[in-house]
Amino acid sequence: MEGLIGFLGGLIIFQSLLFSQVEKPEDSTSSQNLVIFKGDTMKILVAYYSRTGNTRKASQIIANTLNADVDEIVDKKSRKGILGFLRAGYDATRGNTTEITYAKDPENYDIVIIGSPVWNGRVTPAVRTYLIRNKEKMKKAAFFITCAGRPGKCLKQMRELYGGAVIAEKVILSKNIEEGAKSFAEELKKLTSSH
Ligand SMILES: Cc1cc2nc3c(=O)[nH]c(=O)nc-3n(C[C@H](O)[C@H](O)[C@H](O)COP(=O)(O)O)c2cc1C
Repeated sequence: MEGLIGFLGGLIIFQSLLFSQVEKPEDSTSSQNLVIFKGDTMKILVAYYSRTGNTRKASQIIANTLNADVDEIVDKKSRKGILGFLRAGYDATRGNTTEITYAKDPENYDIVIIGSPVWNGRVTPAVRTYLIRNKEKMKKAAFFITCAGRPGKCLKQMRELYGGAVIAEKVILSKNIEEGAKSFAEELKKLTSSH
């Protein structure tokens, strides 16, 4: 019992330490030089997981700007409360998958934009599972993550899990969701419009 309390206490301190430092003071974006055409006819999906709403909000802004479909990836494992929070950090750190549901087939889209919160510097189990399950179906991808300031290796993990062509990536800070999402959407708009 003492061991368990010590472990949980340690985990809480560890997680709060992670959040308290800012790795990059501003949102950051990177994109590869992959030219995409077709403008109007391009079908875009924004698929996201969100525990507390930040990634959902960013997804909706991006989808509205790009006239894209939006799909929520639901984690069937409860992430509520302190236990849910601790399990979330633990599962992300261990690289665990989870049981998910979602409604739209990524195969029907030219580009799939995927959004994940950062958990302990890592991708969420829900997005990990989605990428593993759908990587073969996704023609092109763009990734964004929302976090308190410590993105860690989340984007790198997403890139590696997918293994295909990533047209753009962005770190959006949770204190700056609207601005970050708008600027990423504008960047994607340029990349996806005909020229
Ligand atoms: C379990 C857990 C671990 C987290 N770890 C990090 C982290 O390592 N770095 C960070 O900057 N933010 C971290 N956060 C904060 C979230 O990434 C941030 O609040 C995010 O925007 C939440 O997205 P959501 O509202 O869509 O769930 C963590 C949050 C949770 C619940």
